[in-house]
Amino acid sequence: MYLCIMIFYFSGTGNTRWAAKILADKLGEQLTYIPNMTEKDCRFSLEKGERLGFVLPVHGWRPPLMVRKFIQELVIEGDIDYTYVLWTAGDSIGKATEILTGDLQKRGIELYSAFSLIMPEAYVGLPFMDVDPQEKEIAKKQKAEKNLNDFIKDIEGKEKGVAKTVKGPIPAFFSGPVGGFFVKHLITDKPFHVESERCVKCGICADVCPVNDIIGGLGKEPQWKHNGTCLSCFTCYHHCPHHAIEYGNRTRKKGQYFFGRIHK
Ligand SMILES: Cc1cc2nc3c(=O)[nH]c(=O)nc-3n(C[C@H](O)[C@H](O)[C@H](O)COP(=O)(O)O)c2cc1C
Ligand code: SF4
Ligand code: SF4
Repeated sequence: MYLCIMIFYFSGTGNTRWAAKILADKLGEQLTYIPNMTEKDCRFSLEKGERLGFVLPVHGWRPPLMVRKFIQELVIEGDIDYTYVLWTAGDSIGKATEILTGDLQKRGIELYSAFSLIMPEAYVGLPFMDVDPQEKEIAKKQKAEKNLNDFIKDIEGKEKGVAKTVKGPIPAFFSGPVGGFFVKHLITDKPFHVESERCVKCGICADVCPVNDIIGGLGKEPQWKHNGTCLSCFTCYHHCPHHAIEYGNRTRKKGQYFFGRIHK
């Protein structure tokens, strides 16, 4: 059982980690990284007046699958008087908040407010998707920093009924059938492979994978486990210093991004 003031977060390429750390610093709260939680660790206790926060990226206009599985096991004991979610997304969150609300309600947790930050794009797994150009990346980060400071005031004051999010067009369609297709067909490590002539066996890809889906890496070419754990977060792809990881043919000549990456 954990006793602490709590922010649960997930992050692959670092956008959400950046936001979660600022939030935790300003609120004096503790961060819990969801991939580090095992089934046995899902029972938490809150003191009266403590906030419960979820800081998450949007995956396919929905909460990431691994986060949804974590919530299925989550038990919060004590009084919860304020729960919020802060999303990061490349452009729109669709009905991710409504889906999270439903998942939390099944655990007896009410979600009071939702916020979203538009951050640099991490998804490159479809032919028409690539990372943002550098100017757009910088502009998104600058705006996100301003918005985050505004959101923190609401969260600090436990403002209820706030929905400062960007849902985008036809949110029910994107979070519904399109999101369903995304989960069924596009969350997979099957297309990942390494271009041997570019791989220097540094091990970075395996180190950064949030779910340990990569065997080898250091001293040995990486191999993906194909065991259903991959989140298609592309963190391995983005961190490879030699762009040696490809996703089928869909990432050829595409850019790489992670929060804090220095542009060459
Ligand atoms: C698998 C996957 C699915 C994504 N789906 C969406 C989406 O539906 N809408 C959106 O605006 N951005 C989407 N993105 C972009 C991310 O939400 C965005 O880049 C986020 O800030 C990444 O967070 P992270 O760096 O903490 O992992 C997606 C990214 C990935 C990797
Ligand atoms: S990060 Fe790139 S170069 Fe390093 S082991 Fe992985 S694939 Fe090879
Ligand atoms: S294998 Fe790559 S894409 Fe899959 S979860 Fe790990 S880092 Fe993310």
